Amino acid sequence: MPTLSIPAWSPSLEVGNAIIDADHKETVELLAEAAKASDTDLPAHFTAFAQHLRDHLAREEELMHQYGFPPTPIHVHEHNRVRLELEGIAKRMAAGNLALVRGYLTEVVPEWFINHKNTMDSATAAWIRSQGG
Ligand SMILES: [Fe+2]
Ligand SMILES: [Fe+2]
Repeated sequence: MPTLSIPAWSPSLEVGNAIIDADHKETVELLAEAAKASDTDLPAHFTAFAQHLRDHLAREEELMHQYGFPPTPIHVHEHNRVRLELEGIAKRMAAGNLALVRGYLTEVVPEWFINHKNTMDSATAAWIRSQGG
C-alpha cells in the first residue's frame, strides 16, 4: 500500500484565507483517511473526497469572482482540468480499477494539492487580502 506523500495539517500549510484554509485542512484530513482505507472502503472515500474537492473548487471560484482576481481564467482552467480528472478516475473506479484510485489519492492528488496551493491558491489568497478580504 503506498504511503501518503503529504504532511499532516499544520499552520505552515495555510495560504492566509480562512475559507480556503478550512477547506484545505479538510482536504488533507480526507486524503489521510483515504490512505488508510481498505479496498472495500476505498470507493466511498474517493466519492466523498471528489465531492469535497468539487465543492472546494467552486468556493474558491466564488471568492475569485467576488474579489475580481485578475488571473481568474487561468485558475479556473486548472480547476476544470481537475474536475475532468475526477470524472475519469470515477469511471475507471466503476470499472474496478482500485489500484488507480489508490495511486490517485495517495500520490497524484497530494503532489498536485501542494503545488496548486503554493502557487494559484496562495496568489488568490494574497489578492483577496490586498483587496481587504
Ligand atoms: Fe484550493
Ligand atoms: Fe485552486
